[in-house]
Amino acid sequence: MSDPTFRTDEEFARELDRADPLAGFRDRFEIPGSDASRIYFLGNSLGPLPRATRDAVAHELDGWSRRGVDSYFDSPATWVDLDVRYLETMASIVGATRHEVALMNGLSVNLHLLMASFYRPEGRRVRVLIERPCFPSDRYVVQTQLAWHGIDPEDGILEVGDGEHGPIGIEGIEAALRDRGDEIAVVFLGGVNFLTGELLDMERITEAAHSAGCVVGFDLAHAVGNVPLALSDWGVDFAAWCTYKYLNSGPGAVAGLFVNQRHALDAERFRLGGWWGNDPVARFRWRGQDDFVPRRDAAGWQVSCPPVLALAPLGPALELCAEAGMPAIRDKSIRLTGYLERLLEHLAGPLLRLITPTSAESRGAQLSLVTRDARGLQMSLAATGLDLDVREPDVVRLAPAPLFNTFHEAWRAAHLVTEALQAQEEHDG
Ligand SMILES: Cc1ncc(COP(=O)(O)O)c(C=O)c1O
Repeated sequence: MSDPTFRTDEEFARELDRADPLAGFRDRFEIPGSDASRIYFLGNSLGPLPRATRDAVAHELDGWSRRGVDSYFDSPATWVDLDVRYLETMASIVGATRHEVALMNGLSVNLHLLMASFYRPEGRRVRVLIERPCFPSDRYVVQTQLAWHGIDPEDGILEVGDGEHGPIGIEGIEAALRDRGDEIAVVFLGGVNFLTGELLDMERITEAAHSAGCVVGFDLAHAVGNVPLALSDWGVDFAAWCTYKYLNSGPGAVAGLFVNQRHALDAERFRLGGWWGNDPVARFRWRGQDDFVPRRDAAGWQVSCPPVLALAPLGPALELCAEAGMPAIRDKSIRLTGYLERLLEHLAGPLLRLITPTSAESRGAQLSLVTRDARGLQMSLAATGLDLDVREPDVVRLAPAPLFNTFHEAWRAAHLVTEALQAQEEHDG
């Protein structure tokens, strides 16, 4: 019997697009590429420019031009709390309260600030559990935090995962926590793996980590805006993310962090200090408050004043995500990624070596494939109008992003990838 949810013909892709409740969002972006027929499958790397962002940035430039420093306090659009205006929306996207979220810095910087608070080695409990493959910056954060505490990173890092092309898998994480939990201070993992697109069960990991007496934090760079998150309900201790991937806030846009309120409210929890984490009333006094008294929420981790021009794009970008809603984004994402996968399997057959988990619960909007010459494949696909990215030497990542990619693009991409794989195979003889 034929499957009514899948056909391989082009008209079926068009039918899926006509029935897509998110179809209207595509026109609210400026999709990169000199001609409209290019396929931008790079939302996992840098999301495209939302049309409303130009005005949002221009508005702050106008404020600077017209009022100069008074823009910090001039109502209604004050710079002094520009980040605060986006907190409610940001918090809803990661499943937190606004008091648990702060918008500041870049992702790796935020990870350092969080590790300064949450990596407190004591007695036997000195190690940090990370995954392999681990994003290089995350590894460097952990290595240097360990070294800062006088611990040899070779000894201090514990890894889960096979080191090749995944999956990392919940079993290995639970086994590490069962066997060596009393040596682990912090479990620190990518919620969605950057290389394979594997989505970890963060709730289950949090439970297992807490049972073993460990603190647990996640890098959500590839998860935020991609998959539903419920950081508060899951009891996660801390998390950080960038906003330039699936949130489409642009290059250099301000990043986010989450601190569970049980820690945010804890005045004893160590934070690295700066005037923006301090009591706002005391900020502009030069006398009278010599001590750093951190605010009792995630804002207590802020160090510097809001970087206005890097914050302004967050307004329209987060609004687009909130307006579409994470349930609808996830629903389309599952169908779009599943459709692309089925087409690729049908067309490319044994030439296709996917390393992304096959079940929808274990992945987001990304399919990664292994190939002998990833750079060559990327370049030949770029020449045919499909833009995707490479993790050298052998992984190519395709990210059909539900807010702006279409089923018809997935249909075309599947054909282009198949043709490129066939050409590679013929060339290799
Ligand atoms: C998983 C992951 N972690 C960390 C980073 C580093 O981000 P940043 O340069 O914004 O600190 C990236 C960047 O792409 C990433 O993908």
